[in-house]
Amino acid sequence: MRISIVSGSSREGRRSHRVALGLGNQIEAVDHKAVIIDLMQLELPPFVERFGNVDDPNGKLARISEIMKVSDGLIFLTPEYNGAMSSGLKNFIDVFAKASFDGKPIGVATASAGPLGGIRAAYQLQQTILCILAYPMPQMLTVGNVTDVLDEDGTVIDDEFRGKIEQYTDTYLGFVRKFKV
Ligand SMILES: Cc1cc2nc3c(=O)[nH]c(=O)nc-3n(C[C@H](O)[C@H](O)[C@H](O)COP(=O)(O)O)c2cc1C
Repeated sequence: MRISIVSGSSREGRRSHRVALGLGNQIEAVDHKAVIIDLMQLELPPFVERFGNVDDPNGKLARISEIMKVSDGLIFLTPEYNGAMSSGLKNFIDVFAKASFDGKPIGVATASAGPLGGIRAAYQLQQTILCILAYPMPQMLTVGNVTDVLDEDGTVIDDEFRGKIEQYTDTYLGFVRKFKV
């Protein structure tokens, strides 16, 4: 299967991106394809209108939309900023909703530097996914103390967390598989 992971931090020195990389590594380790849509590289301008109603001179938005449409599932990864998902991820969702997400199974993953793992952002993101006519997986991956469990290239450095990310990935792929029958 083909999974797109939207990495929701574009902050210089960001730490949550390592969760996107770790999930990508784990998905590939179990023989599926992972594509990371990195909001830092995408440099999406602030919302003025939805994809399809805004200029897309070099086709960048069309390419991203197509990548998501041909994916079997998506994972949205966000840092928790002020108790919510990042404004960059919300901007991305607003631009591409609903056409690019309609009917997709979407996993929620969050990260924070502290112990709580971004749980408030995770619940908010689940609700938002319902609004874009997509299906949020009930189980979420919330990663606290993110630098203690993943290094910069997404390699797991904590044994307990290894079990957690493996289990989340297996559960997620099982969830996506249900949409294919
Ligand atoms: C603008 C801003 C708001 C933040 N708000 C929260 C928060 O509400 N809860 C939390 O646990 N951490 C918060 N943090 C700290 C993040 O958990 C920390 O930056 C973490 O590394 C994940 O974000 P990053 O990918 O930008 O590094 C905030 C950080 C920033 C920059």
